[in-house]
Amino acid sequence: QELELKLEMLEKGGYDHFMLKEIYEQPRSIRDCLRGRIYPEEGKVQLGGIKEFVDKLKNIDRIIIVACGTSWHAGLVGEYLIEEYARIPVEVEYASEFRYRNPIITEKDVVIAISQSGETADTMAAIEMAKEKGATIFGICNVVGASIPRLTHAGVYTHAGPEIGVASTKAFTAQVTVLTLIAFYIGQQRGTITSSKLIELLTELDSIPDKIQIALKSNDIVKEISEKFKDSRNCLFLGRGSGFPVALEGALKLKEISYIHAEGYPAAEMKHGPIALIDEEMPVVVIATKNSSYEKVISNIQEVKARKGVVIAIVTEGDIEVKKMADYCIEIPDANEAFLPLLATIPLQLLSYHIAVLRGCNVDQPRNLAKSVTVE
Ligand code: G6P
Repeated sequence: QELELKLEMLEKGGYDHFMLKEIYEQPRSIRDCLRGRIYPEEGKVQLGGIKEFVDKLKNIDRIIIVACGTSWHAGLVGEYLIEEYARIPVEVEYASEFRYRNPIITEKDVVIAISQSGETADTMAAIEMAKEKGATIFGICNVVGASIPRLTHAGVYTHAGPEIGVASTKAFTAQVTVLTLIAFYIGQQRGTITSSKLIELLTELDSIPDKIQIALKSNDIVKEISEKFKDSRNCLFLGRGSGFPVALEGALKLKEISYIHAEGYPAAEMKHGPIALIDEEMPVVVIATKNSSYEKVISNIQEVKARKGVVIAIVTEGDIEVKKMADYCIEIPDANEAFLPLLATIPLQLLSYHIAVLRGCNVDQPRNLAKSVTVE
């Protein structure tokens, strides 16, 4: 038994939990995901897995993304990126809903299935259905040789390495990275991104692993904040644009491992419901980084403060305005809006981790949850 314990310690690489180890692995896992796929000086993205479908990609009318759980959140980030850079309409569907509707799918559609494990039953069934209707299916999977990569026509592995913690962390950021690459790749092929813009974007993407390393330095402050909110019963996460799926993912992480009820909302929708819940007991986590929706998010923060809500804001390094209003601020490095989801996710992962540890929860194996859901 002692040997087993020692082995486990070794596997966790000195961290108390796999989840923390996997959070800290992200600079490396994203670097691995990018390796051999981006050429910043030439402004080129290379995706061997889907290369033979390049003509199809140039002429498609629509992309449908299917996934479950955290992978579905990555899909929502993908929707923003693909529409922005490749100018193709994207729909993001829960695999479980999609498979039981009678969706309109044609041979012109490309379906992207996202799955860490590559074994999720609902995602597999959605793929099979879309395949029958003639769509081209791409997979974004982490586990090499799993069932989903075998079902799809082509795909791109995330290369995040084995993820042991039930709550997905490094697999999520790797999925978002692959979707970023796909958006840029299609944009490059369709001419919807200029080569100078692509050089600029890829140069910055190449520095994202280093920026994630900096974002991880928020750990101490996040831990202090976690002490204050460990006994909260509810928590609201708000974001706009691609900050919205980040808010959803932040809320999912918190509820999965700490069992605190948490909801993610588009910040502007707050007034249509969640605002009724706000009082001095309610922490509201706001993604308030400097991007196109910055000013709008600031007004949302004012609305929360006017109702005595407690605001924890994720802000861009050096921010002054939000700091005047929010109760707590967590800084992340500045980045092009395209990469903000990758950075803003980091402190939220740490927040849910520390809160769960402080509450004495089983972080790596939360109750009732499974790493891979192979039944309906
Ligand atoms: C389970 C896991 C989640 C995961 C979801 C989808 O619920 O606990 O972490 O996001 O399944 O899994 P997949 O392997 O398809 O990404």
